Amino acid sequence: MNTFSINPDSPWLAPLAGYSDLPFRLLVKQYGCAVGCSEMVSVKGLAFKNMATRRILATCPEDTPMVLQLFGSEAQFFEPVMEKLLGMGMRNFDLNAGCPVRKVLKSGSGVKLMEDLGKLVNLASIMVSKAAEHPDGGRVGIKFRLGFNKGENVYIDLAKRLEDVGVDWVTMHPRYGKQMFAGAADWTKLALLKQAVSIPVIGSGDLFTAESGVRCIEETGIDAIMFARGALYDPSIFARYIALKNGTKIPVRDGSFLSEIVLKHIRLTKEYEGDERSFKKIRSIIPRYAKGLKGIRALRSSLLECRNWEELEKAATVIAQLKPVDNTHGDTDVDVICQ
Ligand SMILES: Cc1cc2nc3c(=O)[nH]c(=O)nc-3n(C[C@H](O)[C@H](O)[C@H](O)COP(=O)(O)O)c2cc1C
Repeated sequence: MNTFSINPDSPWLAPLAGYSDLPFRLLVKQYGCAVGCSEMVSVKGLAFKNMATRRILATCPEDTPMVLQLFGSEAQFFEPVMEKLLGMGMRNFDLNAGCPVRKVLKSGSGVKLMEDLGKLVNLASIMVSKAAEHPDGGRVGIKFRLGFNKGENVYIDLAKRLEDVGVDWVTMHPRYGKQMFAGAADWTKLALLKQAVSIPVIGSGDLFTAESGVRCIEETGIDAIMFARGALYDPSIFARYIALKNGTKIPVRDGSFLSEIVLKHIRLTKEYEGDERSFKKIRSIIPRYAKGLKGIRALRSSLLECRNWEELEKAATVIAQLKPVDNTHGDTDVDVICQ
């Protein structure tokens, strides 16, 4: 089904440049992720048929519902690119107005758009009117922060204007652009945003565990949450969140459970990408999943010796035998990985 409803029982995977690729989205769907966002893709790159963007556009029926995240700032490229994407069968779109990395800011995109709300709203309205041309009705969300500079709280004004031009949902990571990932995400602002608009509000920011996801929904009243770094450390965070909400049994995060996750991720990567680049990438990701188990150092060096997919799968099965360092109660231990 390519449709979705935005509600607290349906956690999303956040857009994660370098990580929320097709194999990862398929992996987290197996653990209860309701909607997976793609990595951000450049509108200008798409306009000029940049080959690097092709991998980001990869999808398949099991990937639905998927939201394709665009970034860009030049209005003239949005219409033809949206047309092209609709022609490829894409239906759900998001615009990145929150990325604070220098390269993106330099092009006037990402959170830089929050300094020119007129421009941002115009881009959103182009996306909305083009998405409406999808035979089953396309949908558009905008993902933003509180504002560009610290203290510039433009998010409520912005969200109201986005609602007026027909945006279907908004997602907010409640930090300022200049803050990057420093300090804490201010969930109280999510509550204020929820009260200010009638379209669904999705929250992102410091959702490192299932518990924090449930707490964020309870404290803010927002419609849904999006796991980002929490999912990178524990792709089963979605299942934990749903179990916690429903009061059902939360899976134990032991070696054999983690080994199953790793093997699934390796097999999905091999099946849907399968090249040298993706081999090296998954090999570097695996130790992160085994965090909290004894023997990661030995695991890391055995992984580095792997030269093909079969060896990688064999090395990953060792995780099943590793014992936890301590009882983490199923929580993920999240270091800061920032873009
Ligand atoms: C490695 C990495 C890549 C990210 N890439 C994107 C992106 O492409 N688009 C986007 O809107 N946000 C991106 N983000 C921001 C996340 O979607 C999310 O809003 C942010 O990490 C806050 O959530 P968290 O504290 O629960 O991780 C990225 C974050 C990280 C850590």
